[in-house]
Amino acid sequence: MRKGSKQFETEAIRTQMERSQNLEHSSPIYMTSSFVFEDAEDMRASFAEEKERNIYSRYSNPNNNELIEKVCKMEGAENGFAYASGMAAVFSTLAALLDAGDHVISSKSIFGSTHTLFTNFFPKWNISTSYFDVDDLDSIEGMIQPNTKIIYAESPTNPGVDVLDLEALGNIAKKHGLIFIIDNCFATPYLQQPIKFGADLVIHSGTKLMDGQGRVLAGITVGSGELMDKVYRFSRITGPALSPFNAWVLSRSLETLAIRVDRHCENALKLATFLEGHDKIEWVKYPFLKSHPMHEIAKKQMKAGGCVVAFEVKGGLDAGRKFFDSIELLSLSANLGDSRSIVTHPASTTHSKLTTEERLAVGISDGMVRVSVGLEHIDDIIADVEQALG
Ligand SMILES: Cc1ncc(COP(=O)(O)O)c(C=O)c1O
Repeated sequence: MRKGSKQFETEAIRTQMERSQNLEHSSPIYMTSSFVFEDAEDMRASFAEEKERNIYSRYSNPNNNELIEKVCKMEGAENGFAYASGMAAVFSTLAALLDAGDHVISSKSIFGSTHTLFTNFFPKWNISTSYFDVDDLDSIEGMIQPNTKIIYAESPTNPGVDVLDLEALGNIAKKHGLIFIIDNCFATPYLQQPIKFGADLVIHSGTKLMDGQGRVLAGITVGSGELMDKVYRFSRITGPALSPFNAWVLSRSLETLAIRVDRHCENALKLATFLEGHDKIEWVKYPFLKSHPMHEIAKKQMKAGGCVVAFEVKGGLDAGRKFFDSIELLSLSANLGDSRSIVTHPASTTHSKLTTEERLAVGISDGMVRVSVGLEHIDDIIADVEQALG
């Protein structure tokens, strides 16, 4: 926690915009596209950035500002920008910082759309990417070229819940003067604060645990003031800003982030433990299971293991399909971090744009199941999974 700041839960609740003349207790919603000026001089000075004030909601808005300030406090960051989706945050952040001809070093295990961005779209601007294995950080230094600018990773990863040593990555980035960016969506700032381990920028899909109830799409990037200034200037021109309504929803959601995530993690660990002992399961992965290959690192950098459990049903694709068709309570959906538990088949959904070889290289087998463990009673979650396996 930063000097002078309050505890995480308190900041999550008490970080709030200034009250209006109505003295409302909960923040109001500023559904306005623009803001008015007192006079010609006020208008000139505002556009000349001699004053810090809201001009136009593509640039800033009181609800977005409240959300950004809150997430900055949670992550220990200096500044941020709120986006219409997690992918808008990923794309805008990278596009703001990369020039034509630059090179990125990325973890192989990243969200499918981010992978597609690196492999299919950035080459249009002559931006290339080299990939490292999550368990081979030693290979990174050998990939550095004179035009390398960014090291990019997620931890835990989607969908394989692999864990990367953030401190080791931070040290490599620092040694070589590279920008270190972490997608912290699976952990949330409640479980893990990558800036403490050397990250320069932290990206979130707010659509997941931050909202926690599957209502809004949102994204946010926070980090060093210097880098965020570049990201802000790009983002305010290109127009990916979050709607004030969604910012308001998300800011209210963050008030309960800590207690929600505690329960998600408690339920997920119980489900993972149940699966680990089950004779119809090939393997199960969860960062806070002792059997997870990076359990010690997970314990070092995370408060608990998160809401996602990955496993494979014995019997391959057919057995996996039977499992999905037998599920009754859990939802078959592509989202995660919802109060409702969700089962997903990554190979045919979130990571279907990758080739089979690319999927296998990051541990996504055809029979892999990803469960986002929700907030229903754990006995009911386990009972549904058990009957579907049966
Ligand atoms: C790790 C990770 N990053 C980014 C995203 C993209 O977020 P959004 O769907 O809000 O664009 C996702 C979505 O699943 C994700 O899991």
